[in-house]
Amino acid sequence: MTVTAAQETVPSTALSTLMREGSRAEHTSAENSSFMSDLLEGRSSVERYAVFLRQLAVVYEAIESVGDALASDPVGSAVVDAALVRSAAIEADLRFIAGEDWREIPVGAAATAYASQVRETTGDPVRFVAHHYTRYLGDLSGGQAIGRILQREYGLTEGGVTFYDFPLVPKPKLYKDAYRARLDALPLDDTAKQRVVDEVKAAFALNEALFAEMAA
Ligand code: HEM
Repeated sequence: MTVTAAQETVPSTALSTLMREGSRAEHTSAENSSFMSDLLEGRSSVERYAVFLRQLAVVYEAIESVGDALASDPVGSAVVDAALVRSAAIEADLRFIAGEDWREIPVGAAATAYASQVRETTGDPVRFVAHHYTRYLGDLSGGQAIGRILQREYGLTEGGVTFYDFPLVPKPKLYKDAYRARLDALPLDDTAKQRVVDEVKAAFALNEALFAEMAA
């Protein structure tokens, strides 16, 4: 039997699958970090949570300013979406929990390093996609449960948890499926896909470093 070129071609794995599979170990490790476990099991405090949110403010400022710059880029536009933007929600939560002076809460080395690595991707949209995915798909997944736990464990029932609330994403599961489909439609070769996966791992490591600093 003659084998045609098409039959010989091994279909390359979808980018979204490579990203999820490639960061599985990193995800488990982030979930089990002592800062996350303490927070989710009620052993932290609203004050500690505000310090954490202050760090996230810096990280999301970076992701969202690079996102603005790449909104019309052929690669960046696959993920950038105003419905996801978190900076205003983070600011509202910090104002609720810590008051008008929330900007005086110090920003540590880990968040500074994380934000600066994100900003470096302005000229490299393929790597930016990895940072976008790691935070927002996380917020739309485990983040949804984290918001409910924060309300229950720390009494944040009157405010302070809008970070987990995506009014423009009523069905996170459908949104994530469409997001993954857009990733998979990007015309990236295997080398570019590997760069995305490597940067997802790096993004998880930056999150873990942030958790480690929070636990210290
Ligand atoms: C205790 C903390 C966490 C819990 C309980 C948790 C839980 C989950 C769960 C259940 C999913 C699967 C959702 C689905 O099938 O649609 C998920 C997906 C995800 N999580 Fe987490 N997570 C946690 C922490 C994190 C952290 C710290 C990050 C990164 C900063 C993260 C990033 C992601 C990403 C990117 C996905 C999407 C995976 C994919 O489908 O491609 N998660 N998480």
